Amino acid sequence: MTSDSLKIIHHDFKLSDNVIKKIHKILVKHENDPRNIIQILQDIQAEFHYLAEPVISFIAKELAISEHRIYGVATFYSQFKFVKPGKHQIRVCMGTACHVRGAQSLLDKICRELHIQPGETTKDGLFSIESVYCLGCCALAPVMVIDDNVFGNMSAAKVTKILRKYRRANAPRKTPAKGGGK
Ligand code: FES
Repeated sequence: MTSDSLKIIHHDFKLSDNVIKKIHKILVKHENDPRNIIQILQDIQAEFHYLAEPVISFIAKELAISEHRIYGVATFYSQFKFVKPGKHQIRVCMGTACHVRGAQSLLDKICRELHIQPGETTKDGLFSIESVYCLGCCALAPVMVIDDNVFGNMSAAKVTKILRKYRRANAPRKTPAKGGGK
């Protein structure tokens, strides 16, 4: 991914005074030293949940290094995210136990339902998907986790129902029509 394409993704991230204050705190913690860039990016991600382009730009200026160098480091490590995560983060286990019990078709089904691929976020910002390796509950394989909720013995059929529940819970409430009572 190029920094140009990332700019499109991050158009909604605002570098507010509060955000700048938090970034400065992280930079000071790491002595404003570009050699600590990995730890800086880890702390930035822990704070903002992903590495937004305006944040990377800001850090590059503060540390007097190029954005290119930061992207070079960040894209090397799979732990770093460049896309704003969804309100609900879906993790699908692709570990051995889950794999042999159909994790791939489970993941395919979720991707089809949401029209996104692992590492992406739905347009409405509701869901993002990640594939992970062993969630530590192999007896429940295949497993998916949404936020902190574990769903074991998953099947493609169960996916639709579960996602529908989350969608319903996030649907805007309908206000009763005026004058419909008496
Ligand atoms: S392999 Fe999926 S939970 Fe362990």
